[in-house]
Amino acid sequence: MENIVNNIGLTNINTTPVKRTEAPAKRSIKTSDIYLPKLKRDIYERSPRRTSSASVYKASNINQYNPKLLLKAYANVGFIQDQINSNPELKAIVDKYNLNEINTKNVLNIVDSHLTTTAAYALKIANQLGLSTDEKKQLQQACIFHDFGKVLIPEEILNKPGALTDEEKEIMDLHSELGYQLLLNTGINERVLDMVRNHHKKAAENDDLLGQILSVADIYSALRERRAYKQPLSVNTALDILDQKAINGEVSAEVVDSLSESNMFRS
Ligand SMILES: [Fe+2]
Repeated sequence: MENIVNNIGLTNINTTPVKRTEAPAKRSIKTSDIYLPKLKRDIYERSPRRTSSASVYKASNINQYNPKLLLKAYANVGFIQDQINSNPELKAIVDKYNLNEINTKNVLNIVDSHLTTTAAYALKIANQLGLSTDEKKQLQQACIFHDFGKVLIPEEILNKPGALTDEEKEIMDLHSELGYQLLLNTGINERVLDMVRNHHKKAAENDDLLGQILSVADIYSALRERRAYKQPLSVNTALDILDQKAINGEVSAEVVDSLSESNMFRS
C-alpha cells in the first residue's frame, strides 16, 4: 500500500472543489459498525513470549468468527516460525530475501487503525452493493488479514520516511504473497486467502468482486491516514485519486462509484 501511495501522481489530480463531505466521518469507522465484538485483552496481547502453535489453534477455534482476535492469535512468533518451517514455498521466499526477523508489531500496531478502517470502508461498499452476510463476513476477515505478511518485512523498509529503492520495493511487494503463505492450512476460507494474496493486483487481474472491494477500501483508508511520509488527504482528493485509478484500470470503477455513493458521504 505504501508503495501505491508513494507512486501517486498528485500533480495529475483534479482538485476541483468540494462536492462531497464525509458526513458521519468519525462514526463511519466505529468498530461496532463492522459487527466485531469489542476485544478482550488476551494472553497473546499481554505476553510477548513465544506461544506454542497448539495454543494459537485453540484460540482460533474458540474465536473463529472474530477476525481481530484471530489476527492477534496468529501474530505470534511461535506460530509464524512453525508456518515457515512447515511450508517449503514460504521458506524459499524467506531464505531468498533473508527475511529472518519476525516483527509482529508491524501488524498488531495497525489493527485498530488501518486494518479496522479498511474493514469499515469495505463494509460501506458491500452494503451499497447489497452483498450477502456471508460475503460481508469473508470480506471483513480479509480486510483484517490483508497485510499479515508484513510481519516478515523489515521495519526499516516498512516505516521508511522516503521513497523505497527498487530493491526495497521488491521486498515490500512480497507481503501479500507472504501473508497468503503464512495463513495456508489454518482453516481460513480459500476465498479470504486469495483476497489476501491479490490485494495489490489490478482490477483486471483480480476477478473477485470482494477482492476488488478490499483493494479500494485499502487504498482509500491509506490515503486518508497520516503516514511517516505523508499527511492525510482530504475526502475529495482521496476520491479523485480513486477515480483516476479506476480510469487507469488499477481498481474497479463500479466499486469506486459504490464507495462514493455509500452512506458515508450523505449528510
Ligand atoms: Fe498491502
